[in-house]
Amino acid sequence: MTEVADPGTITFPLPRTCPFAPPDEYRRLREEEPVTKVDLPNEGEQMWVVARHEDVRAVLADTRFSSNSHHPAYPRLNKSDGSAPQQGRRVILNLDPPEHGESRRSVVGEFTVRRMEALRPRIQQIVDQHIDAMLAGPKPVDLVAAFALPVPSLVICELLGVPYADHSFFETRSAKMVDRATPLDERSEASDAVMGYLHGLVQSKLAEPTEDLLGRLAAQADAADPIAVADLVGMAVALLVAGHETTANMIGLGVLAFKEHPDQLAIIREDPSKISNAVEELLRYFTVADTVALRVATEDIEVNGVTIPAGEGVLPLGYAANRDPNVYPDPDAFDIERGSRQHVAFGFGPHQCIGQNLARMELQIAFETLFRRLPNLELAVPVEELSFREPSALVFGAHAIPVTW
Ligand code: HEM
Repeated sequence: MTEVADPGTITFPLPRTCPFAPPDEYRRLREEEPVTKVDLPNEGEQMWVVARHEDVRAVLADTRFSSNSHHPAYPRLNKSDGSAPQQGRRVILNLDPPEHGESRRSVVGEFTVRRMEALRPRIQQIVDQHIDAMLAGPKPVDLVAAFALPVPSLVICELLGVPYADHSFFETRSAKMVDRATPLDERSEASDAVMGYLHGLVQSKLAEPTEDLLGRLAAQADAADPIAVADLVGMAVALLVAGHETTANMIGLGVLAFKEHPDQLAIIREDPSKISNAVEELLRYFTVADTVALRVATEDIEVNGVTIPAGEGVLPLGYAANRDPNVYPDPDAFDIERGSRQHVAFGFGPHQCIGQNLARMELQIAFETLFRRLPNLELAVPVEELSFREPSALVFGAHAIPVTW
């Protein structure tokens, strides 16, 4: 076992000083302290971070690391305002075996490659309709508001059976839920509102099942069992929020990366079949959900020669793993032909992203169509003038991206 020298000298979450790169400190951690303890924003609180690709995958694959957000040692990356931590039922992301497996099995069949392929024509149509609207409207336009957010939001609404007419209600609240900088009471309020809204929707589907994902789940649930109903609402919240927040930010950032790297854009323009490799590289390159996969050690666990004691919090750094030069030569280069498949942008192991097949398809269709139909797409302001989410955000992204063509 290795002694960890001088623990807790840096405070997480660390800022991304450049929107196209992880915090500078990740490189040093990977090279010098691949498993180490760091400070958290609340006085006296600490967690472990793990920085190498191999070790990050080992932690994510190991169910002795719990995802239970109600554990007292579950890392708090936001500064507490002193109020009691949020209680309530847990969602799939925060369940451990055996409940996690049951929850996952109830929906995983809805997200197979085959199921997602069946959605391709409709996703293409949604993408085209939003580009039609951009072409018909004034320039410049905010790509986030006109395209990146509404496309995945409408797709997940149709898949789940959530009325898209309510999109501004849940989009504004979801954005607060994933922003740890939002004061705790406001986050709780936003989460309660989305929960309440979906509770009402689930009740109506229990009364009269519909031909959509939530309708199918409702048809199998026992309406008289409050736990089954609460589980269903929790799943609806997880899918609705994760289903649009993540992909939306990746669409915006992806456009920025292609505009910053015209040589890479030229490759997909010449050969659109390379778009799926490009999407994998974008997922690796940005790792937008870098701070999502928080864990707590349930027993003493050795990682790369260091023992993480039972009852201590851990964050495997997906973004450090995805820039590990042992796996990705010249890791900071954006190279769509490198072959980035074993990236951990969707996590790894039992909690690996359920929506990854959907996200991949949405991203592939979005970039291919956008650059084909708007060949002169340009940023309307320099990249340096864009504003990005705070380091504590659960999902990284740009607030707005003015574009013209
Ligand atoms: C680019 C888009 C996306 C990224 C980068 C992303 C990232 C992630 C990551 C890193 C995890 C693992 C969390 C952990 O280990 O604790 C995860 C889990 C999850 N994601 Fe995604 N996600 C994306 C899109 C989606 C979409 C479109 C959906 C819904 C349709 C979705 C639903 C979920 C769910 C339900 C889980 C929890 C799985 C479990 O706990 O077993 N995600 N996602």
